[in-house]
Parts: sequence; structure tokens; C-alpha cells
Amino acid sequence: MSKILFEPFRIKVVEPINISTLEQRAKWLRRAGYNMFNLRSEQVMIDLLSDSGTSAMSQEQWGALTSGDEAYAGSKSFYELEAVARDIFQKPYIIPVHQGRAGEHLVFSVLVKPGMKIPSNGHFDTTAANIADNGGVPVNLPIPEAAYPREFHPFKGNMDLERLEKFLHKEDRSVPFVMLTITNNSGGGQPVSLENAKAVHAICRRFGKPLIIDGCRFAENAFFIKCREAGQSARSALEIAQELFQLASIITFSAKKDALANIGGLVCLEDQELAEKLKNRLIITEGFPTYGGMSGRDMAAIAQGLKEVLNEDYLKYRVRTIEWTVERLNARDIPVLMPAGGHAFYLDAARFFPHIRPEHFPGIALTAEVYLRGGIRGVELGNVAFGARDEHGNHVFPVLDLVRFALPRRVYTEAHMGYVTDIVSEAFEERAKVRGYKFKYEAPVMRHFRSTFEPIE
Ligand code: F0G
Repeated sequence: MSKILFEPFRIKVVEPINISTLEQRAKWLRRAGYNMFNLRSEQVMIDLLSDSGTSAMSQEQWGALTSGDEAYAGSKSFYELEAVARDIFQKPYIIPVHQGRAGEHLVFSVLVKPGMKIPSNGHFDTTAANIADNGGVPVNLPIPEAAYPREFHPFKGNMDLERLEKFLHKEDRSVPFVMLTITNNSGGGQPVSLENAKAVHAICRRFGKPLIIDGCRFAENAFFIKCREAGQSARSALEIAQELFQLASIITFSAKKDALANIGGLVCLEDQELAEKLKNRLIITEGFPTYGGMSGRDMAAIAQGLKEVLNEDYLKYRVRTIEWTVERLNARDIPVLMPAGGHAFYLDAARFFPHIRPEHFPGIALTAEVYLRGGIRGVELGNVAFGARDEHGNHVFPVLDLVRFALPRRVYTEAHMGYVTDIVSEAFEERAKVRGYKFKYEAPVMRHFRSTFEPIE
């Protein structure tokens, strides 16, 4: 038997890639202010900026689009999506929103009051920003191993249970709920174990706090549990996902990830009174509760995507592609975050370019270098994205200075990833020549999206 694990799909529709030259890319990058978000997609050959909304839909999803029911109220597509979502997320109330952060905004605008503190294994940037926007304070309590990019832990996304307990003892009155992000995107796409999720849930119960799961990448997390956690290998990814979600009171979900859709999101919950409140707010900001922020065809594509994403041949290919890329990078001594995450590989920019000072943004240098050499687009999730200024204007940097290369689902093949590893390796071999960057424009919040840079001479 061949050991080659091939992509479990055939390609029926193709999107040509515009092959560019180094000179063209140098010009485009300069014009973009060295910020990957300012590039046009035709200027990119392999686009690993995000796995969000970038999936290739299946023939069944494209078919579902044509039968989407666009009724203002009572859309058949909503009820079909509701039935699939109830089964997976295990909650009776399913509220459609246009994407994940709209769900976060909706829930937090009701539950978060100024001064409240929200502990998590790792808040995503929009989650943290939506908490802060309502006057709350996001607090990350990952396990200590999460701070060491080269240390292997099968569930590096786990919450630090001891710190959570201590935190709740101290801050009990100011904590409205606890969050778990599965997988932990900001910490390297690392999974949370079922055991850890159950322990977090038990602590929440003891302190009388609801648990909110950010379930964006639940299928990948469930598959990691099946593969890595003792006693789970005989269970299906669906059963594992259902058990995880039974622990939560509320689930926020971006359909742009593990629903294989290009837009959409859900809030799923068990509390009827809260569901009523959210639906009333939904009408002001998103739309009527049977479409939220989506068209009928979006909901139809999501319902179909949710049926496909737990297919274990798909999940095996998905997780293995990233693992294979990480193995190849690691074999060339490139500082890649270990173990492989579920949706992306992450490079440790600080170790990739040890000669570039933190305030000269090694991560920006790395995204620029990989783009220049190979037309590959990644995203800095380090000193720029998660850094800030203190009251004196001095830099405050996060523990890890990472660059993420996220894989859109079902879009790129092994050959594309082979090319990516070659380009990253080339950049690593010639790393001594690379210089840092400084801000040209420093955006006030979520700096990675809108800031621009210039090279240091
Ligand atoms: N939670 C997590 C863990 C996420 O990764 C994201 C989005 C969101 C919430 C927000 O969902 O984009 O639908 O509003 N992550 C994307 C990314 C943007 O590139 O990682 P959204």
C-alpha cells in the first residue's frame, strides 16, 4: 500500500494563479506599505493569509446555493440549517449572524459590562476586541507549555486549570462567564483536550459560571481528540464534537472556518430567556431571526458544509497536510511552532531572525521576505498584531512573535505546500541579509490590519 495520502477530492472548477516576477512583487509590496492586507489577491500566488471564508465549496454546496430560500421570514434554508446545527452544537436555540464576530458582538453586548473580566485559554483578536469594546477585560490563561514554540504537547490549546481556579477565587464577582477557544488560533491552532474541557466545565459549575465555547474550528479540534486522546480513537469526530458542545451554555461560531462556507456564523445557546434577548437585539443589528446577517443561499451552503466537515477522510487530509509541511520545515531546522496546528503552520519570527530587534518587527520582515521570494502571503500575529503601547508610549510585546500561514480548506494541494516549504527554507538560508521595519502609520487598534511600514536602512 502506498503511504501517500492524496487529497480526497477531484478538482472540477479551477481558478488560475497569476504567476508574477520578483520585480513586480517588490513594487506591489512597496505600494502596500509592506502590509499583506493591502495587497490585491491577483498579486498573490499562494494565499495563506487566512483560512477564514476561503474554503473551496463542494459540488453539493454549490448545488445548495441554487435552492436557497430567500424568504424574509421563515426561510426553509434557515430551518434546514437549524436542524443540522442543533444536532452538532447540541443547543435548542440557533441564531444566524453574518460572521463570527457579529455573534461575539451580539452576546457580549448583553453579557459584558464595564470592568468585567473574561478568562479564556486564548481569546482570538476579534473576541478580545469585542470584550474590550463593551468595557470588559479579556484574560488569557493557557497552559505554560503554550509559551514554548518547540515544546511538544498534544493539547497545547488547553486552559491552565490551576490558574483558572485561582483567578475565579480572586475575581469571582467580576467574571460573567469563562471562554474556551477550540482550537486556540492565537496560540498556534492548538487543540483543547476533552479532558481539559470537562475540567474547565467542572470548575465553571463550581463557581456558577456559564462556559462559552468559541467553536470556529470544532471539527479539527474533535479530530485531534480522536487521534491523540486516550480512549477516544473509536469514537466519531461528530460524537466527540457533540460531547464538547454539551459542556457549553453558549457557542459562538464562524461558519467561515469549519462550515466550509465563505461567509456566515451562528450563536447557539440553551437559555430561552437569553435567546429572546439576543433575537430582539439581532433585529436591530443583523436582521430577522430566520436569516440574521445571511442570505438563504448562505445558510443552505453552511448546512451542507456542516454535514461535510466531520467527514474523517477530509479531516485526515486536512490535519496531515499541515503536519507534513511542519515536518519538512522542522527537518530543515526552521523555527516552526510544534506540534502542527489544525489550520495553519506558525513560524517563530523572533528565532527566524534573531538579529532583528523586536521593535523592528521580525514578523513583518518574515511576511515580506516570503512574499517577495515566492508570492506567498502569511500574516504577522506577533509584535504588531498583539503588541501595544504603555502609557509612556513604550512597546509592550506578546510572549511569542509569530507569523501564521493558514491553509484555506480544500484549496491547495501537496505540490503547493512543497513549494511553500521550499520558499520558506530559501528565506531561512539567506536570513542574515534581511533587515527590520518601522511603522510608517501605526493603526490605533488591531494594528496588523491597517498599519503600514518602511524598511530600516
Ligand atoms: N474566533 C476565532 C477563534 C477566529 O479565528 C475568528 C476569525 C473569529 C472568532 C471571528 O470570526 O472572522 O467570522 O468574524 N478568524 C479569522 C482568522 C479572521 O484569520 O483567523 P469571523
